[in-house]
Amino acid sequence: MNLCRLVYYSERDADQHLDLRTLIAQCHKNNTARSVTGLLHHNGTYFIQVLEGSRADVSSIYHRIATDPRHINLILLSCSDVRERLFPTWSMGLHEGTSPRTREIFLRYFSKDRIDPETISVDSLLDVLQDVAAEL
Ligand SMILES: Cc1cc2nc3c(=O)[nH]c(=O)nc-3n(C[C@H](O)[C@H](O)[C@H](O)COP(=O)(O)O)c2cc1C
Repeated sequence: MNLCRLVYYSERDADQHLDLRTLIAQCHKNNTARSVTGLLHHNGTYFIQVLEGSRADVSSIYHRIATDPRHINLILLSCSDVRERLFPTWSMGLHEGTSPRTREIFLRYFSKDRIDPETISVDSLLDVLQDVAAEL
């Protein structure tokens, strides 16, 4: 199996109903069945998601996610083969960027206390997401 990692970000469509608990339950069911792991960060505006698993499974799930009306303006940042997973224990960890500890982590990496994915390299995103995952 070729392990790969895909990273994208998108914006919540404010006109669409969003229940994050229901969304994460969907992720858990589908991703567990395919041994896909990762992290979903949401800050009220942006989603940033990392998906890790086989090329076929990650592609299949990503194409489904890309047509989901709950978000818009998807930007695919990277999709490449990797030697190991960065988020092996999460079928899809949900991180909501609001706590004081989270703001501390963001301020360590950035000049402001929230992630603005438009201005950040994919490597920096993966670093900061690993730090916030450790808080889950
Ligand atoms: C930001 C975002 C992230 C999502 N991530 C996943 C995911 O990791 N896995 C997944 O199966 N569905 C994910 N979804 C939901 C899919 O778009 C789709 O609704 C779901 O896979 C359908 O599952 P079902 O056919 O079992 O109802 C995500 C949706 C959004 C808006």
